[in-house]
Amino acid sequence: MDASAIRIAPSILSADFARLGEEVRAIEAAGADLVHFDVMDNHYVPNLTIGPLVCEAIRPHVTLPIDVHLMVEPVDALIPLFARAGANIITFHPEASRHVDRTLGLIREHGCKAGLVLNPATPLALLDHVLDRLDLVLLMSVNPGFGGQAFIPSTLDKIRALRRRLDAFEVGSGRRIWLEVDGGVKADNIGAIRQAGADTFVAGSAVFGAPDSDRGYRTAIGQLRARAIE
Ligand code: DX5
Ligand code: ZN
Repeated sequence: MDASAIRIAPSILSADFARLGEEVRAIEAAGADLVHFDVMDNHYVPNLTIGPLVCEAIRPHVTLPIDVHLMVEPVDALIPLFARAGANIITFHPEASRHVDRTLGLIREHGCKAGLVLNPATPLALLDHVLDRLDLVLLMSVNPGFGGQAFIPSTLDKIRALRRRLDAFEVGSGRRIWLEVDGGVKADNIGAIRQAGADTFVAGSAVFGAPDSDRGYRTAIGQLRARAIE
């Protein structure tokens, strides 16, 4: 398997927020593929993080795509703000939008890739009527709200089931939808997650927990990439 076929998306939730510009430059220099940007509103999830102003502030520091994961309710009003702030990918949780199809349309109208995020207990059936609207699906392997939680093992079966659906969609449409996994991804489980069918891996504590330097992050990202494909 070719290492370039997988994407590593460090989550800046575990970065040093007092030095965020430096931190995103360091992960780009260290070989990351995306910047994963976790937005929490103390309503949809019991935590509060960062918004469009912070996205705009880091935008000039990286050329990597910014992958905005919205854990907010409601969703729609934030989409134009994040698109203007330089987001490239916007995902949201279907439970948090009254009109999922409309929200997906809004993301693409604003020039971003669109995705749905499914919590551990949210069934894949929620994707049934919107696959043609999706550029990616993000499967949560922890309950959203905090970094540093343990990977929920039953996610592996869900990844396999989603892989089958996305492969069937690709045969019919010629379009490949990314399968991203978020939560508790580490060097010792990324191989199993990859084998189950994921192609894009969010890693917060596994990257930013490494010694704080280009070199530490490069080792952590390199190890994740290597262990994913072995
Ligand atoms: C959790 C966030 C994740 C989190 C992952 O709600 O969506 O992106 O930062 O952190 P780790 O990799 O430490 O589980
Ligand atoms: Zn996330």
